[in-house]
Amino acid sequence: MTKLVVFSGSCRESSLNAQLARAASRVGEQEGADVTLVSLRDYTMPLYDGDLEDESGVPEGAGRFRELLASHDGFLVACPEYNGSITPLLKNTIDWTSRPDGDVPGLVAYRGKVAGLVSASPGGLGGLRGLVHVRAILSGIGVHVVPTQFALGGAHQAFNDDGDLSDEAKAGQLQAVVSQLVETTRRLTD
Ligand SMILES: Cc1cc2nc3c(=O)[nH]c(=O)nc-3n(C[C@H](O)[C@H](O)[C@H](O)COP(=O)(O)O)c2cc1C
Repeated sequence: MTKLVVFSGSCRESSLNAQLARAASRVGEQEGADVTLVSLRDYTMPLYDGDLEDESGVPEGAGRFRELLASHDGFLVACPEYNGSITPLLKNTIDWTSRPDGDVPGLVAYRGKVAGLVSASPGGLGGLRGLVHVRAILSGIGVHVVPTQFALGGAHQAFNDDGDLSDEAKAGQLQAVVSQLVETTRRLTD
């Protein structure tokens, strides 16, 4: 069974991207994947600092998140857009989890994995500009990022009480990303 981690690049309690990640995880299960939905709040780590790394190695939270990604075939990330780009939380998580750690080589969490990208924003473009940067970063460290992506604009008004997307067309766009992620992962890992 295809194993996917789903998470948001924001760990805010009422994060719109966490809501989109939750909706995506349900779609992933419907598509037949084994989905692990997590919050980066449960994998806290300090801001990357080379001196800190030299003194005490990779932080415990980063090591656990790296192991989580490494033990799955791929991941879906809901990416908030900050000033047209990636959030510091997501970038910092990628930075720490891409580092070598004792006997564990760098990039084990990323190289050869498959990823899908979505974003949510109250704004009209839905965080689309930030996805360009996240795609470039992940592709640069060996992740196969599926071509289909989804940016949800007006996200503060997009979810119904069950946490699903009220608009059928938008729900279809989310489904298209998840379905391509599951299918691509299946093909690459079989
Ligand atoms: C520092 C900062 C920069 C932001 N820049 C953008 C932006 O460039 N584009 C955008 O659509 N929204 C931007 N926003 C608004 C976020 O999309 C909004 O706060 C969103 O709810 C954050 O995602 P979350 O709900 O998952 O935490 C910004 C928010 C912050 C805090």
